[in-house]
Amino acid sequence: MSQAAILVTRAIFPDQLERLQAQFQVESNQQDSIWSPDELVARLQGKAGVFMTGVEKVDAALLAQCPQLRICANMTVGYNNFDLAAMSAVGVLGTNAPDVLTESTADFAFALLLATARRITESEHYLRAGLWKHWRYDLFAGAEVHGSTLGIIGMGRIGQAIARRAALGFGMRVVYHNRSRLSAELEHSLHAEYLGKQALLETADHVMLVLPYSAASHHTIGAAELACMKPSATLINVARGGIVDDAALAQALRAGTLAAAGLDVFEGEPAVHPDLLTVPNVVLTPHIASATEGTRRAMAALAVDNLIGYLSGGAARTPLNLAQLDTGAQAARVAS
Ligand code: DGY
Repeated sequence: MSQAAILVTRAIFPDQLERLQAQFQVESNQQDSIWSPDELVARLQGKAGVFMTGVEKVDAALLAQCPQLRICANMTVGYNNFDLAAMSAVGVLGTNAPDVLTESTADFAFALLLATARRITESEHYLRAGLWKHWRYDLFAGAEVHGSTLGIIGMGRIGQAIARRAALGFGMRVVYHNRSRLSAELEHSLHAEYLGKQALLETADHVMLVLPYSAASHHTIGAAELACMKPSATLINVARGGIVDDAALAQALRAGTLAAAGLDVFEGEPAVHPDLLTVPNVVLTPHIASATEGTRRAMAALAVDNLIGYLSGGAARTPLNLAQLDTGAQAARVAS
């Protein structure tokens, strides 16, 4: 039987590429070029699988033009690049990379909270600019983290890992909001209290966003929500761009109605709203919350496992829509 052909859309760890090359005919992009949607479709011709980085859109239009495609494997936990209903309808499996990035992403969320509340980047810029002349009682006085109240919106695996750090490591009161409430046992073990969104925004000293992006979560935090937060509060977004209205956030930061923000993700990234680049009380990082070498390797390995498992007739480890796949359409793609 001839080897299936697959596409790798971006540069990946060479050893993971080699694992794929041992199983498949691989077209890869180790130069890390950014392809247009049309170029992606062109390169997908004849491919049964694709390794993706969570940004390349897979929608009905793409699927209609790629009749041999059977699996799209994201190396990210987020999968808002997939139209899962469209994929299921034409028998294409989507997979993501959950779990392996939970702890390092929670570490980073905390790093961003500490950098933001304690004004670490702002004060470093001041020092590097040669402006530091002497110690002063209120120099870069920030907000307390230990013992304060953390509001977490989105209490999945990463939200729970953040809650543990907050409650057990920093003695924080943890309040959370989520589509569905956790069990009483889990709430108890995380020391987390459930609140409605408005009550959480009004109560928290620091708000962290860890929810997936979807049409329903678009602008979960906009001008109205920012107005509910304490003026001394900080907002941290390690989830997805689009969950925060970045223009409204920049306005609140400039007006001083919100003390500070730490953002790892942006609406329309890699572009960043120009107003966010000019306000001092915001810490900005380029979507690196999961970026430790070990975690990124584990994410890539999981996506590779998913491609090898599924296309060799076995199972993908982390399927998203297996139960929803149209089996007739799936079989037609296997036969094509
Ligand atoms: C994810 O896995 O969804 C992250 O945002 C990528 O680092």
